[in-house]
Amino acid sequence: MLQKTIAVGADHGGYKLKRDLAKQLRGMGFEVLDFGTDNFDAVDYPDIAEVVVSAILKGQAGQGVLVCGSGIGMSIAANRHNGIRAALCNNEKAAELARQHNNANILVLGERLIELSVAKQCVERFFLSEFEGGRHHKRVQKLG
Ligand code: RB5
Repeated sequence: MLQKTIAVGADHGGYKLKRDLAKQLRGMGFEVLDFGTDNFDAVDYPDIAEVVVSAILKGQAGQGVLVCGSGIGMSIAANRHNGIRAALCNNEKAAELARQHNNANILVLGERLIELSVAKQCVERFFLSEFEGGRHHKRVQKLG
């Protein structure tokens, strides 16, 4: 079952990729809640991660996408919250496994480190793949 609403956010290092991926997600039939940013003016990635995380934890969105320059800051910020499993992915296989094995609920990408075409493949695989459960269930539960 697809989660229909995806929360997206980026800092100034990731806003162009976030804009392109939001368009892709709408094309895939998802509703997108876009929490910015939308230009090169510097913002702090923890602030953007916070609003996307909050939308997911409140149930306003089922899953999310966070983008910064490297993806590292966004993953660190998002993963501080119980119930959030943010996966920094560099290829479509990682994105698929993040869903199948880790039940990740946020896809994180680094605009400065990934080609647009690969980022789009990651989005496709992440949002079309399902958690496999089974042996992975108790492991994910241990994450809190
Ligand atoms: C911003 O320059 C950059 O530090 C940020 O986008 C991110 O890469 C941090 O992890």
